[in-house]
Amino acid sequence: MNKQEQTIKNNGQLVDMFSRTISYLRLSLTDRCNLRCVYCMPVDDKGGLQLLPHKDLLSYEELLRIVNLVVDMGMNKLRLTGGEPLVRKGVMDFITALSRIDGLDEIRLTTNGVLLHEKAEGLYRSGIRKLNISLDTLRPDRFKEITGADLFQQVWQGIETASDLGFDIKLNVVAMKGVNDDEFLDFAKLAVEKPYQVRFIEFMPVGKKSSWDKSSYITSDELKDLVGSMGTLDPLPGCRMDGPARVYLLTTPGGSTGKIGFISPISHHFCDTCNRLRLTSAGKLRACLLHDREADLKTLLRSGGTDDEIRGLIRQTILDKPKGHTLAEDQASCGGQMSRIGG
Ligand code: 5AD
Ligand code: SF4
Repeated sequence: MNKQEQTIKNNGQLVDMFSRTISYLRLSLTDRCNLRCVYCMPVDDKGGLQLLPHKDLLSYEELLRIVNLVVDMGMNKLRLTGGEPLVRKGVMDFITALSRIDGLDEIRLTTNGVLLHEKAEGLYRSGIRKLNISLDTLRPDRFKEITGADLFQQVWQGIETASDLGFDIKLNVVAMKGVNDDEFLDFAKLAVEKPYQVRFIEFMPVGKKSSWDKSSYITSDELKDLVGSMGTLDPLPGCRMDGPARVYLLTTPGGSTGKIGFISPISHHFCDTCNRLRLTSAGKLRACLLHDREADLKTLLRSGGTDDEIRGLIRQTILDKPKGHTLAEDQASCGGQMSRIGG
């Protein structure tokens, strides 16, 4: 069996060199965003934003071609990210087209929630049922400090609208010491009061100009101890489709419950079960968020690459998927930009 054939085993699923089944594509639709979160949007030396020219984004036709190919190759789950995916023109029609792809079992969306109040209904109609919403604070003034925009109320309204429509909602909270560490218990309370799963994400050093430093980083274990002080935390049985979060049921002394997830890319990395591949908004295939190696799918597409050649590049990227990252050991950072790679 040659190396490329090794990526296809088990009923046509894609399997990499470390026996990980690659079933999940994260698609960054745009590097643009209507917020400017301190840890995410890259500024150049003059304080300007480094955004891709529109022609450098893959068109919806190009994206549909790739998604059709990867689904055909055995992938069945897609997440749309950004930047902020909902700011890209035509995104709702694109999602509707995606929802018609046979074999694509689930489309999920990661959003900052700013446009949810107006787009939630359309999203529900197009078949999306699960939303990850980034929300690092519950305080309007702090929201403005972190994101640069005074839009907390609008985001909150969007979350409530989406919840009322029946979306399954996860709130992503990046845990940052000195920024939002006095709100972790408020977030845990929220998970008890509302049907939202709150997921604390360890702050990662992504991007050359990231605001990350060692003193701003809190481990999931520290967070878990803190949240555990509110009641008991019982691990919920792992769900394969649930991604890298370790999810617990928090039960308060009064008997109320809420779901809390901990995502620990640094302290307990989940590389050995990583099932994902990323397509950046610049049209590069990336096998690992924390390794800068990328394959140039866009150039292949635009130079008349055939379906077979595209499949070949996808397989090669999967074969080259690193075993894991070593951030915890070497305290290095990844040079890519979160707003382009898509988290
Ligand atoms: N560390 C951890 N999480 C991050 N996100 C963006 N940048 C970082 C970082 N440096 C989160 C966003 C979003 C998700 C896609 O990734 O808040 O919820
Ligand atoms: Fe996935 Fe890379 Fe993280 Fe491993 S280090 S879990 S391959 S993103």
